[in-house]
Amino acid sequence: CGIVGYAGSRPALTIVLDGLRRLEYRGYDSAGVAIVDDVLRTAKRAGKLANLEKALQSEDGLDTGTTGIGHTRWATHGGPTDRNAHPHRSVDGRVAVIHNGIIENFAKLRTELEQQGIEFASDTDTECAAHLLSFEVSRSSVEDPAERLADAMRAVCRRLEGAFTLLAVDAQAPGAVVGARRNSPLVVGRGEGENYLASDVAAFIEHTREAVELGQDQVVLITGDAIVITDFLGNPAEGKDFHINWDISAAEKSGYDYFMLKEIAEQPHAVAETLLGRLNEQGDLLLDEVRLTDQDLRDVDKVFIVACGTAYHAGMVAKYAIEHWTRIPCEVELASEFRYRDPVLDRSTLVVAISQSGETMDTLMALRHAKEQKARVLAICNTNGSTIPRESDAVLYTHAGPEIAVASTKAFLTQLVACYLVGLHLAQVRGIKYADEVGAVVAQLQEMPQKVEQVLAMMEPIRKLARELADAKSVLFIGRHVSYPVALEGALKLKELAYMHAEGFAAGELKHGPIALIDEGTPVVCVVPSPRGRGVLHDKVVSNIQEVRARGARTIVIAEDGDTAVEPYADHLFHVPVTPTLLAPLVTTVPLQVLACEIASARGHDVDQPRNLAKSVTVE
Ligand code: G6P
Repeated sequence: CGIVGYAGSRPALTIVLDGLRRLEYRGYDSAGVAIVDDVLRTAKRAGKLANLEKALQSEDGLDTGTTGIGHTRWATHGGPTDRNAHPHRSVDGRVAVIHNGIIENFAKLRTELEQQGIEFASDTDTECAAHLLSFEVSRSSVEDPAERLADAMRAVCRRLEGAFTLLAVDAQAPGAVVGARRNSPLVVGRGEGENYLASDVAAFIEHTREAVELGQDQVVLITGDAIVITDFLGNPAEGKDFHINWDISAAEKSGYDYFMLKEIAEQPHAVAETLLGRLNEQGDLLLDEVRLTDQDLRDVDKVFIVACGTAYHAGMVAKYAIEHWTRIPCEVELASEFRYRDPVLDRSTLVVAISQSGETMDTLMALRHAKEQKARVLAICNTNGSTIPRESDAVLYTHAGPEIAVASTKAFLTQLVACYLVGLHLAQVRGIKYADEVGAVVAQLQEMPQKVEQVLAMMEPIRKLARELADAKSVLFIGRHVSYPVALEGALKLKELAYMHAEGFAAGELKHGPIALIDEGTPVVCVVPSPRGRGVLHDKVVSNIQEVRARGARTIVIAEDGDTAVEPYADHLFHVPVTPTLLAPLVTTVPLQVLACEIASARGHDVDQPRNLAKSVTVE
């Protein structure tokens, strides 16, 4: 969910709505606002922000208040309806609350509140917080109304279990917004005579570049001229000040129809940025934050990679590179499965957590489990200062810049680069690869931005094909070795964006079952390895292509420049530049991203905000 708060002297409604627009990638099941003027008014609607904006045209009184909060929701408890939309108000109407996360003890709290005669107006866990808050403000002995709201919020937080960011306003404390943070993100924007709260700096970047990151279990009170931070007990606490150095254009479409198209086009730059300055003069690879010694890395005898969604596919590619370069066994696991199966971890296990947002709850929980078992954790992350890197022993940031489209593209490519760097670093520290060998791979990596650029320049035929495939019932993707995760990623993109049945398979596994899916005309996207290097692999995939074609498949082949062996079996052939096998996903993924994006747009879908999804999922 995305949350925004404002306290200052300008009308809050416009500022809150603009902020929500920039956070809509975090969820768009419903949206709502609460504005305090002489009274507290709320408006909320199911569906995208546009529905709320339309409803606001016929609502009076919300446009003058200078204190407000707003929410864009990704539904957890209770369906995406008007009544379940946030804000939620207390029965007496005095306070309004918005929330990101899950209150785990809500059933108990709800029963308790119902026994006191409170009738719930929604199915959400959040509503409990509104009723509890109203109860606490009315009984608080603190005189100052703003301080009283903060005091009441602390009392509420002490009773809540789970993950939450809460924002609240009180009709009797005009000018104040109170926020609380446990696990889910919350940042403060420091303005002049006005202050902001949001789950992501994108919400207020057009007003201020000065921000304060809140720590775990902190409560913040903002008014027009003050920011007061405490812990849940009321002890003074400090946030972490930081300056936002990205440009506002980074958060805008800049002439592209969709953020996704812009982000696909930014990939050469993102890859180059992620490589920049990674080698020092001795040829050592530099991590951003290292709280691990070289000896710790030499002691590593097993690597686990944990991640979700697209980041998981980056991890699958990393396994091939890490094992090949370091000879350390490496397993990749979905973060949501990891801790529940009691994995074997100890001090000499290195857990690599990959996450664009740095907030994904499944990945965070996997990381915490790893730390409890004494494993070392290295984060690969795109968001500075987010929770996952903060809780890790070492961090390598991907420099993709803000990724707004829900379906990940440029973050994926930079995650691959970061994984390669980690593999090389481990190999070097352990003495398996020497500086010159590492330097040679880094030099190959340095050529990748240009190769990605070349692929992007050849996308017109893919777009044309996409329009032809818009009505296909199902699309299959096959690949071997590092192209297997690429096939999975291609299928995931198509599912996410086009809502089509799409599945990725290891090409060799096809004959053991999935080949039965192939019918006359079934599109099969085949990602072919380089004929050089591991030539056997190439030949095997060519045979697999023949097998599917013999069953009537329409083959769409992605192969290296100059690979003539595939020509007779390709109904559609797309070339990518010659690239070392392990690095090939950096180029072969790109046509699949474009294919999915174009098919979705041909089917009339909102490419940036696919149904049911959210970009950062801060619940387990
Ligand atoms: C969500 C997004 C995916 C993303 C995954 C992991 O499910 O919709 O696109 O790959 O989370 O996100 P992370 O921020 O941890 O990389």
